[in-house]
Amino acid sequence: MRAYWEERARLNAAFYVDTSLDYDAPDMTRFLETGKLVAALALDDAPVVPGQRRLAVEIGCGLGRICLALSERFDKVIGYDISEEMLEQARPLVADRAVELRHTDGAGLPGLADRSADLVVTFTVFQHIPDVDVITSYVREAGRVLADDGVFAFQWNNTSGARRWRWRRAAMSVVQRLGRGDRYDRDRPEFLGSRVPLAVMDAALADAGLVRVGLRDPGQLFTWAWATRQA
Ligand SMILES: C[S@@+](CC[C@H](N)C(=O)[O-])C[C@H]1O[C@@H](n2cnc3c(N)ncnc32)[C@H](O)[C@@H]1O
Repeated sequence: MRAYWEERARLNAAFYVDTSLDYDAPDMTRFLETGKLVAALALDDAPVVPGQRRLAVEIGCGLGRICLALSERFDKVIGYDISEEMLEQARPLVADRAVELRHTDGAGLPGLADRSADLVVTFTVFQHIPDVDVITSYVREAGRVLADDGVFAFQWNNTSGARRWRWRRAAMSVVQRLGRGDRYDRDRPEFLGSRVPLAVMDAALADAGLVRVGLRDPGQLFTWAWATRQA
């Protein structure tokens, strides 16, 4: 995963963070605006909100557009990413804000104290992770770091056919390796990621000591859920 995302960041970080952008001329105004929309979706359009606004944490922050938006709402924001190159390019964008960017091994939130985060959020990251155990590891980490009245707000690929998708993903990546796949190299397991059924996600939340309290657009690529600590 790291090698794939390091290379994407070097090639065209903004495009691979948001592939609806134009590859040759990414509209950075729209890009940053989308960060605000995602923060609004996680917080304003939510069934539950964090009790306090001290610390927000983003898993897979990319260029930091969501961190930037969250910094208008929280005292401090910490963004984690697997790609050092992504973080390097993000630093000037989030400069002078209460945003700290940290590198992760790709499955955890190192250096973050237990029960310290009022919000843990992730968007367009779980959908790209091919190994479901890595996703459940992040859910466990969210459970570890979430404050008692904190909220875990996350998006993942909840479209049906998780097993079928693994076969299709394998076939597509063979075609990609043969040079006949997507022109932007998105037919790789590291981009195609996994589909995770709701029952699997709910079990991961329960293992992490969390409970789902809200769900938006089930069965979609952009399914969102909100979870809090179990009472
Ligand atoms: C599509 S981008 C989304 C970035 C950001 N969430 C946003 O919407 O602006 C996916 C990001 O997740 C990062 N990533 C991929 N796998 C990861 C992992 N296992 N742990 C942490 N970050 C990961 C990539 O490096 C990339 O920056």
